[in-house]
Amino acid sequence: MKRGGGGGGGGGRGGKAETLVSLSRQRTIQVLVFVSSLYLLLFTYEIPFFFLTTTTTKSSNKLENSPTLLSQRVSLTNLQPERERRTNVVFVSRIFDDDVVLDHSDGPIHETARHARQEGKKLWEELEYGTEQEISTEKIENLAGSCPQSVSLTGSEFEARGKVVELPCGLTLGSHVTVVGKPRKAHVAGSSKGEEWYARGAEKGREVSHFVMELQGLRTVDGEEPPRILHFNPRLKGDWSGKPVIELNTCYRMQWATALRCDGWKSRADEETVDGLVKCEKWMEDDSSDDEQSKTAWWLKRMAGRTKSVTVEWPFPFTVNSLFVLTLSAGFEGYHINVDGRHVASFPYRTGFTLEDATGLTLTGDVDVQSIFVASLPSSHPSFSQQQHLEMSSEWIAPTLPDTNVEMFIGILSAGNHFAERMAARKTWMQHTLIRSSRVVARFFVALHQRKEVNVELKKEAEYFGDIVIVPYMDHYDLVVLKTVAICEYGVHKVSAKQIMKGDDDTFLKLDVILEKARHIPDYISFYFGNMNYHHKPLRHGKWAVTYEEWPEEDYPPYANGPGYILSSDIAEYIVSEFEGHRLRLFKMEDVSMGMWVGQFNSTKLVRYLHSLKFCQFGCVEGYFTAHYQSPRQMLCLWDKLQNQTWPQCCNMR
Ligand SMILES: *[C@@H]1O[C@H](CO)[C@@H](O)[C@H](O)[C@H]1NC(C)=O
Ligand SMILES: *[C@@H]1O[C@H](CO)[C@@H](O)[C@H](O)[C@H]1NC(C)=O
Repeated sequence: MKRGGGGGGGGGRGGKAETLVSLSRQRTIQVLVFVSSLYLLLFTYEIPFFFLTTTTTKSSNKLENSPTLLSQRVSLTNLQPERERRTNVVFVSRIFDDDVVLDHSDGPIHETARHARQEGKKLWEELEYGTEQEISTEKIENLAGSCPQSVSLTGSEFEARGKVVELPCGLTLGSHVTVVGKPRKAHVAGSSKGEEWYARGAEKGREVSHFVMELQGLRTVDGEEPPRILHFNPRLKGDWSGKPVIELNTCYRMQWATALRCDGWKSRADEETVDGLVKCEKWMEDDSSDDEQSKTAWWLKRMAGRTKSVTVEWPFPFTVNSLFVLTLSAGFEGYHINVDGRHVASFPYRTGFTLEDATGLTLTGDVDVQSIFVASLPSSHPSFSQQQHLEMSSEWIAPTLPDTNVEMFIGILSAGNHFAERMAARKTWMQHTLIRSSRVVARFFVALHQRKEVNVELKKEAEYFGDIVIVPYMDHYDLVVLKTVAICEYGVHKVSAKQIMKGDDDTFLKLDVILEKARHIPDYISFYFGNMNYHHKPLRHGKWAVTYEEWPEEDYPPYANGPGYILSSDIAEYIVSEFEGHRLRLFKMEDVSMGMWVGQFNSTKLVRYLHSLKFCQFGCVEGYFTAHYQSPRQMLCLWDKLQNQTWPQCCNMR
C-alpha cells in the first residue's frame, strides 16, 4: 500500500542543465549585488533624479497588482516577461470550516490532526497577511550561515553522528567526497542485525563482506525512507555471481531502479560514457595470482618502448583489512568513483535525483571508516532553486471550473515541495483533451509545509496555475487521509462530478481508457474501482508498524491501492457527510480508510467492487491504466509515447 503523498525525491532535471543553471544563477546574483550596491550608493548620496524614478516605478507596480490577494508578487512572475500575468484566488479546502469537526473524537490521529490544523492555520495567516519581503530577508539570514564549504570528520566523529554526514545544502558540480576506510573481514550473511542490503545479494549463511556508501535525500522526505540518490555497494566476497562486484543504484520512494553492476568487465565500447569515462572498469578475476610480477613485466615492457597496447590489470579495488582512499566526485553527467587514485566506476545522474537533494552521506556495513572529507560544497541553499522547476507558461494553466457536466474529478495528493512532480503532471496527462475540455477536472491537494519559503512558492504556484487546493494543515505523514476527505468534499460540493478519482503526484494516468471503463458502469450503480487488496493484515513489527491502538482489528477491509482508484460520487458524498457529522473514523493509511468507508456505505447500499491490476501499485506494466512511482522524466516519456501510439507502453528508465 502506498503510504501517502508525502515523500519523494526533488525533481526531474538532468545534472548538466542543473549545473549550467546554477552557474548562470551565480552570475545573476553577482549582477543583483552590483545593482543593489549602485542603488544604495545613489540612495546614500540622494542623487535625486535616479532615486525618484526608481520609487515611482516601484509603487506603480504595486498598484497594478494590488487587487490580488497577495499584493507583492516578486521573484517568480516578475522574472517572466509581462505577457503572462494571471492570478487566481487560491482555493482553500473547506473541510476544517467547522472548527469542531476534529474535536469530537479521540485517538492518536485526532490529536495529531488538531495540532496540525492549529499550526496550519498560523502558517496560512502568515502567508495571507505577512509580506513576502519579510520572509525573504529572514530566509537569507537563516540560511547564509548554514552552508558549510567543507565537512571533515574523523572516524569516531562519524560514528558519533550515527554514521551520517549531513550536507545541509546538498552537493553541486565539482563537489567531492573522500573516504579513508578499511573493509572488515568477512562474516556470515544474516548474522548481524540491520543487514537490509544483504537480502539483495548473498544468500543467508554465506560468507560476505560488503559495505554501502549512499548519498541520501534526507530533507526531501517526511516520514518515508529517504530516497537514495546514489547507492554504491562493493561486495568483496561476491554475491550470487560468486565474484566480487560493485553495484550502483538509486531508490525512489522505496522503489529500487535498475542497478548498474560492475563485475570485473569493462563496459562495452558502444555503451554510453559518463563525462567520457566508462561506467565500469575492468579488474582481474583473481588477485591472488602473481600480479606483482605482471605489473613489473608490463612496466619493463613499457620502459623498453616495446608496446603501448598492453594494458595493466588491476585487482578488485577493495581488499579486506587494507586501507583504501575512495573519492566520489560530481561531474557534468554523473558521479565518478576513484579508489586509490584509479577510476573504478561512473554512474550517470538519474532524473528525479539532483545534486542539491543529496543532503546526507552514509556508510554502513563491513567497513571501518577512518576519516571523511567533503568539499567544494555549494554556498547557497537549495531551496532558492526549488521553484526553478516551475514553468510559468500559460500553456499549463488549468481551465477554469465549468458549471456543469463534469464526468470525473481527479484529486491528486501532493506535498508542498513537489514542484517538479506537479509540473511533470501538468505537462503530460493533464494536457489530455478530456481535461482541456473540462469533461474531467484535476486538482492537486497540498497541505502546508514546515518551511515558510516553500509555502510562499506554493501559493504563487497555486495562484498562477489555478490547479491547487490547499488543505490548511501542517503536512504530516499520518494525516494524508484528511486530503482524501478534502478530495471527496471538493469533488462533490465544488465540482459536482459523477465520479471521483484519487491519484498521487507520481501517478501517470491513461485518462481516455480510465474514463471509457468508468462510462461502462451505469449511473445508478455505486462502485469502487481499483487494484483491490483482500484479506490484508496490518504490519505489526518494524519501522512501519501499525499499533493496536491505531487499528485494533486483525484484518484490513477490502481496499484499493492508493495510487489510483475511482468512486461513484454517492460514496464520496457519504464520506463527506460522515466527516461533517463527526462520525467518520480516520486511519492513517488513506487507502485502507477508504476501504473501510466504502465497506460501511455498502451496508446501506450495495457497492460494486471492481478490480484491475492495471492500476499499478509498483511501477508500470504494459497496457496500464495508471503507472505509479513515475519520475518526472518518466512522465514525459510516457506522454511522448502516448502521442504516437494508443497502446500504453512503459518507460523504464529513471
Ligand atoms: C457488501 O454488502 C453485501 C450485502 O450486504 C455483502 O454480501 C458483501 O460482502 C459486502 N461487500 C463487502 C466488500 O463488504
Ligand atoms: C513520435 O513521432 C514523432 C514524429 O513521427 C517522433 O519524432 C518521435 O520521436 C516519436 N516519439 C516516440 C516516443 O516514439
